[in-house]
Parts: sequence; C-alpha cells; structure tokens
Amino acid sequence: MIQETLAIIKPDGVARGLIGEVIRRIESHGLKVKAMKMVHLSKKEAEGFYAVHRERPFFGSLTSFMSEGPVVLMILSGENAIQAWRDLMGATDPAKSAPGTIRREFGLSIERNTTHGSDAPETAAFETSYFFSGMEACN
Ligand code: CMP
Repeated sequence: MIQETLAIIKPDGVARGLIGEVIRRIESHGLKVKAMKMVHLSKKEAEGFYAVHRERPFFGSLTSFMSEGPVVLMILSGENAIQAWRDLMGATDPAKSAPGTIRREFGLSIERNTTHGSDAPETAAFETSYFFSGMEACN
C-alpha cells in the first residue's frame, strides 16, 4: 500500500551537517520526497506538533530542543512508507536501535535522536497537514 509519512531531521542532525546523509538514505531506500522545507520552529509550534506528549515528563525539554535550531521537514511517499521510514530510523533510543540505523549511527540520546517519523496512518495525516498545505506537496 502506498502511504505518506512525515519525516523530520531534528536540530541535532541539521547542526551536525547530516541533512544530505539522511536524505541519501531515504532516497536509496526507494522512498520519494514529496515535499520539503527547512524551518526554525517556535516553542509554541513544537508544542502543537508534540501535543500528544504534553503530559510526559520530557515535554518541556523536548519542545525546547526542537525549537533550538532549524529542522528539515519532509513528506515521504512509498510502499508502506510509515514502517519503511521507521525501519530506517531505528528505535527511539539510539542505544537500543539496530546497527546500521540512522539513530544508532547518529543519535546522541533518547531525546536528541536525529530524526522523527510518524507512527501510524492517523498521526501521519495530522503531522503532514500540521506543516504542509496541499499545494506544497508534489505528485
Ligand atoms: P520522536 O520520534 O520525535 O517522538 C517523541 C520524541 O520525544 C522522541 O522522538 C524523542 O526525541 C523524545 N523522547 C521520547 N522518549 C523520551 C524520554 N524518555 N526522554 C526524553 N525524550 C524522549
């Protein structure tokens, strides 16, 4: 099934010059970049994006981190894109992620884990529309 998912290269990845490396992995895995932009989120924008985590103890720190510097936002499309992108990223905690995954190779901590991906079709729909209008996505 062809799906869309949201990918973010987080501030730690952008700051360390990993944009090209992450996109290379995405494209060489057969996923297509349908939309892309670089933005510096405000704390409020990061809070809105991660609203489902509002009650978590790490919410304040996570949203400060996500607004400390620019991020790259992308809509990815492809066969089972949600799981395919999650497989490329690896587990949330870099220490627990499989060898060869982005988070294992580049993640600094469970919070500064270099990339984000939607975890289900409903969250992918919310997350892609949070950052992109229909006009910004290419076919
Ligand atoms: P992400 O996939 O973007 O989804 C939520 C983010 O919260 C996660 O990646 C991490 O950056 C962060 N996160 C998840 N669990 C923790 C935790 N236990 N401590 C700190 N940050 C976390």
